[in-house]
Amino acid sequence: MALIFYSPINPADVWEAALKKHLPDLDFRRWEAPGDPAEIDMALCWKPPPGGLATFPNLAVIFSLAAGIDSLTADPDLPDVPIVRMVEPSLTAGVAEYVLLHVLRHHKDQRRFEAQQQARLWQEHFAPPAATRRVGIMGLGAIGAEAARMLVAVGFAVAGWSRTQKRIDGVESFHGADQLDAFLAGTDILVCLLPKTRATDGILNAALFENLPRGASLINAGRGDQLVEDDLLAALDSGRLSGATLDVFGTEPLPEDHPFWRHPKITVTPHSAGDPFPDVAAKIVAENIGRFQRGEPLPHLYDPRAGY
Ligand code: NDP
Ligand code: OXD
Repeated sequence: MALIFYSPINPADVWEAALKKHLPDLDFRRWEAPGDPAEIDMALCWKPPPGGLATFPNLAVIFSLAAGIDSLTADPDLPDVPIVRMVEPSLTAGVAEYVLLHVLRHHKDQRRFEAQQQARLWQEHFAPPAATRRVGIMGLGAIGAEAARMLVAVGFAVAGWSRTQKRIDGVESFHGADQLDAFLAGTDILVCLLPKTRATDGILNAALFENLPRGASLINAGRGDQLVEDDLLAALDSGRLSGATLDVFGTEPLPEDHPFWRHPKITVTPHSAGDPFPDVAAKIVAENIGRFQRGEPLPHLYDPRAGY
């Protein structure tokens, strides 16, 4: 029984060493040298080539290297086995820190100071107290809830929107389609941490922007397909939105000629809000491998009915 590893960005040697600290006998196989495919029963991967996992006839579980499993489920030949999402403290904290950083950038109008520096312009301007700035988080799951807690700790007025109601100290909870407009109406800085599903594709669109207070800003670290790009450009041009920070895109890497790169009101980051740090995350993966091998229930399973 063996584990096959694939990732275009996470180094196999680092993950092998990190996992073997917890599971010294683990049979860790690299994609380019899998050995006998019939011996593989576990996969640990991010964005494997479509059809690739179907070549392992005895695959019984997939451990995702990402929180979002959409790159796996997009594969029409994906084996019908349980998928365990990556939920671990270093990824959660990393994305929550990203949200905090960019909420503060919008709150403090940091982009304006940077433009002033380019122009050697000395011009004071000051942000209102954080308590008067309303941050709304779409998606209050493992990551959204942690981002909300960090923002509350800094003093922001925080609300969240999810499918089901949440109870998080200091966070106003909205849920379901019926409460989306009320949530948006009270949001100055909108943060998207939703998974990619049929229900969330295209959700960040002109109609949604119209329901935000004029001059609101957007941070999207969910998935690129959630954003209707032309609607964002129109909303920025009209002043409906004042700025956007985007970490995820419909096409990644973002094409060189894409208008987002040079837009004065857009900050682009290359899908780098967070990533599992092997020294921390390997312990969680190793625990899940142990559960799988003992036939115990697995946590954070992808739910095909919900789509995430
Ligand atoms: P979770 O599954 O823990 O949380 C998802 C949240 O979205 C839940 O609160 C869920 O509601 C809510 N949700 C899902 N569908 C809907 C809907 N139709 N309407 C309202 N709310 C909805 O996921 P994580 O927090 O672990 O990760 C969230 C996403 O963040 C990932 O799927 C990925 O796309 C993105 N991500 C991006 C990273 C980056 O580097 N940019 C890194 C990591 C993650 P409920 O709680 O009621 O189920
Ligand atoms: C994730 C990601 O979902 O990296 O973990 O985007």
